[in-house]
Amino acid sequence: MRMVYKVLAYVVAGLVMVQAAAIAFAQFGLMAWIEQGGTLDAAAMQSDDVSFTGVAGYMIHGMFGEMVIPIVVLLLLISSFFARTTGAVKWALIVVVTTAVQVTLGLLADGAPALGILHGAGALVLFGSAIMAGMRAKATGAPAEDASTEPAAVPVS
Ligand code: HEM
Repeated sequence: MRMVYKVLAYVVAGLVMVQAAAIAFAQFGLMAWIEQGGTLDAAAMQSDDVSFTGVAGYMIHGMFGEMVIPIVVLLLLISSFFARTTGAVKWALIVVVTTAVQVTLGLLADGAPALGILHGAGALVLFGSAIMAGMRAKATGAPAEDASTEPAAVPVS
């Protein structure tokens, strides 16, 4: 289970990278579309007619942010209880809390753009926490296994 925990932790870190890539793809696509004459206003945002290279990035970011990452993070938390690694639950909880804050900021930043600053920076905290969770599983897991393979004491005659 330690390996599952470790893999899930690195998957979370990878998904944060996907989030960054998706939103950058969408933003550059939007800029290029506007430079080529596209017009974005409230009506255009609410319609399904706006289409440009990278528009899927917004959809991917929303779907991964609201669903995929929270699900993987919950699996990480569940696996942490069985990982038998010092600090596994602690680091999984840090990832859970950081994700909750990150998603909340993403949902609220539309109405309060300054929260976008915390949302962008928070992604790096989440990435770092997930990497730490994965790395610590490797560093502290070994002794637990070693203990079970300790040679039996040989009676001295
Ligand atoms: C990696 C750096 C990240 C950047 C630069 C970033 C940037 C953004 C931006 C610009 C938006 C507004 C886009 C829109 O409303 O369609 C947004 C929304 C959002 N982001 Fe991120 N984000 C990042 C990482 C993350 C991560 C790691 C998560 C989840 C754990 C996340 C979850 C969300 C959510 C839930 C929304 C709201 C989506 C919606 O309203 O449809 N973001 N983000």
